[in-house]
Amino acid sequence: MSKKLYISTYGCQMNVYDSARMADLMAPLGYTLTDKPASADMAILNTCHIREKASEKTFSELGRLRKTREGRQSRNEGDMIIAVAGCVAQAEGAEIMKRAPFVDMVFGPQSYHNLPQMVAEANRGVGHILDTDFPVEPKFDHLPKEAIDTNLSAFLTVQEGCDKFCAFCVVPYTRGAEFSRPVASIVTEAKRMIAGGTREITLLGQNVNAYHGEGADGKPVTLAGLIYQLAEIEGLERLRYTTSHPLEMTEELCKAHRDVDSLMPYLHLPVQAGSDRILAAMNRRHTADEYRRIIDKLRHYQPDLALSGDFIVGFPGETDQDFEDTLQLVRDVKYAQAYSFKYSPRPGTPAAGLESEMIDEAVKSERLARLQALLNEQQLAYNQSFVGREIDVLLEREGKREGQIVGRSPYMQSVFVPSPAHRIGRIATVIVQEGNANSLRGELKPGSVADAA
Ligand code: SAH
Ligand code: SF4
Ligand code: F3S
Repeated sequence: MSKKLYISTYGCQMNVYDSARMADLMAPLGYTLTDKPASADMAILNTCHIREKASEKTFSELGRLRKTREGRQSRNEGDMIIAVAGCVAQAEGAEIMKRAPFVDMVFGPQSYHNLPQMVAEANRGVGHILDTDFPVEPKFDHLPKEAIDTNLSAFLTVQEGCDKFCAFCVVPYTRGAEFSRPVASIVTEAKRMIAGGTREITLLGQNVNAYHGEGADGKPVTLAGLIYQLAEIEGLERLRYTTSHPLEMTEELCKAHRDVDSLMPYLHLPVQAGSDRILAAMNRRHTADEYRRIIDKLRHYQPDLALSGDFIVGFPGETDQDFEDTLQLVRDVKYAQAYSFKYSPRPGTPAAGLESEMIDEAVKSERLARLQALLNEQQLAYNQSFVGREIDVLLEREGKREGQIVGRSPYMQSVFVPSPAHRIGRIATVIVQEGNANSLRGELKPGSVADAA
């Protein structure tokens, strides 16, 4: 008796990981994934609360799902369980039940391991189910040991939650306190992924470099320590980690970028702003120059490192000069790519209370446009600097065009090459011919990948 499960995932990579685990949990109940909501016996929205826009998507998609469910009912195709998971569920569980009473269940990021039980209850018609507890025993202890499908490049959550309390951010409230998984369970999961065909693993955490999980001797292990252990696993070709906080960018971790061959030369290290006054108001707990020195240290050990970041413009009280300081920091660091956002006041966060200092929407838009123009210029220059270079590319999937494969460079760029599909899964040498705004284009180096399938 096969049932269909539709999962719609918003937000960060941790939500992507969680959605995959929810699929694993539902498989023994007979649910297989579908990308068509109309054919789904159950739909889960895995939501994001980080900015207002992200959060509001929950309600618009819920409206669409309600219609989809009514369509199924009117065609006698059966009912549909509607569930809301993730960070909006955690932050606004009761509000969702009120605004969208047709929702069957709401559960937070730390309690989705109870999913099979909740589905059983829903099928018994118990009515609304709300589970937004932060359980004492971490969900990881209750997740299935067998993953259903493995990707060539996969995420592995090693740390979750955040104790940093940046003044603008909801994550400490939606994900809870920092928690690190023990090394042994991470190694087991990594080995299982590799046995299933994974070649690249990205270690995930809201503050992944604050990782301090228990090692074999019962003592805490750092992220660098974990990376050294994982790098020993045969078949693991590439390692990455995200997202890091500047405060925990230790010498040991910077050095790992020199000493661990499989650790890719790419780092996402958000700074948010370049003005010390704003950084202090944001409770980031470091100055712009301290961030510059961390970048120097990283480049000392790995001169080839591609840097990425996150920026917020229009934080309450941000002056023109503060914003110029952000632009200057970007010019000094030179990013390979970056994400930038307009400040969005979030309920319950300290910065949302700075009402008299809120920046005009028009000013925010203008600053964002200027920052993005600079970041785009840097990204294009970075990609163009690859023309003529030979790089290793993990060939991941077919491209939109016939006979084309898309892969990933060590520096996180998407790379398009003409190649038959049977080469997917290999790491090949690509000669770069073109550097564009968002990708590279090139050709496989003859003989760099065996032709036999
Ligand atoms: N350390 C986290 C950051 C999560 S949020 C991680 O592991 O990814 C991702 C980014 O969203 C932040 O770095 C920040 O730039 C942005 N962001 C967070 N709260 C925001 C808000 N209230 N308004 C605008 N952008 C925000
Ligand atoms: Fe949010 Fe700051 Fe924690 Fe990142 S470090 S999740 S921005 S509170
Ligand atoms: Fe969004 Fe929650 Fe991730 S708020 S960014 S889904 S931790």
